[in-house]
Amino acid sequence: MKDALMKIKEQALSDIASGAEDIEALKVKYLGKKGELTAILKGMGKLTAEERPVIGQLANDVRNAIEEAIAKEQASLKEKALAKTLLEEKIDVSVPGNKKEIGSKHPLTIVLDELKDIFVGMGYEIADGPEVEYDYYNFEALNIPQDHPARDTQDTFYINDNIVLRTQTSSMQIRVMENKKPPIKIIAPGRVYRSDAVDATHSPVFHQIEGLVVDKGITMSDLKGTLETFVKRLYGDDAKIRFRPHHFPFTEPSAEVDVSCFVCKGEGCSVCKGEGWIEILGAGMVHPNVLKVCGIDPEVYSGFAFGIGLERLVMRRFDINDLRLFFENDIRFLKQF
Ligand code: PHE
Repeated sequence: MKDALMKIKEQALSDIASGAEDIEALKVKYLGKKGELTAILKGMGKLTAEERPVIGQLANDVRNAIEEAIAKEQASLKEKALAKTLLEEKIDVSVPGNKKEIGSKHPLTIVLDELKDIFVGMGYEIADGPEVEYDYYNFEALNIPQDHPARDTQDTFYINDNIVLRTQTSSMQIRVMENKKPPIKIIAPGRVYRSDAVDATHSPVFHQIEGLVVDKGITMSDLKGTLETFVKRLYGDDAKIRFRPHHFPFTEPSAEVDVSCFVCKGEGCSVCKGEGWIEILGAGMVHPNVLKVCGIDPEVYSGFAFGIGLERLVMRRFDINDLRLFFENDIRFLKQF
């Protein structure tokens, strides 16, 4: 038995050292329940009382020796594997990286974000609606019937007789009032379309920001106060506004609103073309017909609305002299913002 044990030990250690067989398989082969060592130990019952402790001790020694050799081999295999991965996954820090080009905000977006912040700061919600719009919302409900001359000044692209590309964000006045009862306090920024030929100051696509406030007791002074607060936040505390009488079919009274030139402060310069004032928006008190069409009683409620032209504002702000630059996506232009 002694010889058998010594043979197993010798064979096991040489097998492990050779590395030819899988280490886990060797573990099972020599130490497992059906392994060679276990088989020998099973025969211990036949030994004499004197032999048993001696052989038992020897069997233990053999077992320990094999276990130790296996553990050692496993540790060394692990180390080798680690060394291999470290070598393979080595990062060459001297290789130039991939530079990520991060763009910048479009100038229209820069200023629009500022306007949104200002109005949200005054408690307005932001409303969004379709650019492909029913004639009803773009004209009819805004007090502009089929034969109204105002349709001529806002010629647009017709999808069919009833559907157009909206010419103004004022369509959102109707959509909001149809869906929500006063108090209403929203701005609705977005793209609008007109069938205009392209030149330095005209584009068939441009942007407006509509504003609408409807509640009990809203007056023209609320409109003035709101617009004054708005221009002061945008251009600084010394900015002033001026109302000029105007006509819009959906407001009464109506006005065009100018802001004192933020460059010359009203003296007259090249930015304001010597005027001292710059036109920035149209506004007025919501026409009773418009309230009625949306199911709001004009005897109980009143409101004001305004429509800001975004491009003009941004052109003056950044001294941009050609509207086309906004839409051409020339990277040399866009990079400047
Ligand atoms: N929608 C008008 C335009 O495009 C502007 C406007 C909006 C006027 C709201 C009054 C009230 O010219």
